[in-house]
Amino acid sequence: MPETLLEVEGLKKHFPIRSGLLQKQTGSVKAVDDVSFTLNKGETLGLVGESGCGKSTTGRMLMRLLEPTEGKIIFDGKDLTKISKSEMRKARKDIQMVFQDPFASLNPRHTVERIIEEPLIVHGLGNKQERKKRVKELLDIVGLSSYHAGRYPHQFSGGQRQRIGIARALAVNPKLIIADEPVSALDVSIQSQVLNLLDDLQKEFDLTYLFVAHDLGVVRHISDRVAVMYLGKIVEISDGDQLYEQPKHPYTQALLSAVPVADPDYKKERIILGGDVPSASNPPKGCPFHTRCPMAMSICKEVVPNLQEVEQGHLTACHLYGESK
Ligand SMILES: Nc1ncnc2c1ncn2[C@@H]1O[C@H](COP(=O)(O)OP(=O)(O)OP(=O)(O)O)[C@@H](O)[C@H]1O
Ligand SMILES: [Mg+2]
Repeated sequence: MPETLLEVEGLKKHFPIRSGLLQKQTGSVKAVDDVSFTLNKGETLGLVGESGCGKSTTGRMLMRLLEPTEGKIIFDGKDLTKISKSEMRKARKDIQMVFQDPFASLNPRHTVERIIEEPLIVHGLGNKQERKKRVKELLDIVGLSSYHAGRYPHQFSGGQRQRIGIARALAVNPKLIIADEPVSALDVSIQSQVLNLLDDLQKEFDLTYLFVAHDLGVVRHISDRVAVMYLGKIVEISDGDQLYEQPKHPYTQALLSAVPVADPDYKKERIILGGDVPSASNPPKGCPFHTRCPMAMSICKEVVPNLQEVEQGHLTACHLYGESK
């Protein structure tokens, strides 16, 4: 039996919209709207969807960098939404984040050594000497050299900077790493090197990853399971291969049709979605995707479809797979 590390249940983040002189709340942005999933120890869940669908907000809530509006985040048996701020600070040692833009997330005035040892200082681990040794070890683990410790972020390439970000995340031996588009800002040729590094590190240190990306192609090789988000909701979640070979949700099918395939003889039909993603402050009634769905039926305009299992381990929120079928 796989061991559950993280269980997210009914997670919501509604940002208030305020306007007028008195800054009265006039509405809310439903950035994350009832998201549930589990993550087993040692696995990678890819979280995919277009810009603004709520991926980063989900990731930030898991670390409680953002307070959830509702829902449970059970990590290692503890509900993170119920613990005090100081307990949460301790729990953050086990959950680390790798960001999209390593340049923006590394302090330009600090040396690499200072950057990588920071989480050790925050969590009161080791003395100066021990930290120095650990930084060298970490640089080696991510494929950099110990002499890099005295340099500054601007002296590195994008790929190297992301390696520094990864070393910093690893410093405190976390259990879960939330990687928020860690390769999106890198050249395609560098992307696979960083993905391979993350893959190797996972095996070596028994890490669990939540890997956020907006492109299904990027997460394919690294993910054991993939969840697709649309307008704050998970519309499909399954084993990686299942999802790519037999996508159930029309939105997943459209996203996949846009992923380039290596085989030039393979002709696939590109599904072009009409219209724009609706605003998260005014999501459509019923299925959030019905306004753009090529298969929409009348029920879709009225009733929100539940995320339900359509094949073993393969869940989708779509009326095409309703109980009657
Ligand atoms: N602090 C905030 N206040 C109000 N609205 C916010 C805030 N942060 C995010 N949002 C809104 O919440 C929604 C989800 O944003 P989020 O950053 O989670 O999306 P994302 O899927 O990570 O997108 P991207 O691919 O562009 O990074 C968007 O509509 C965004 O405008
Ligand atoms: Mg984001």
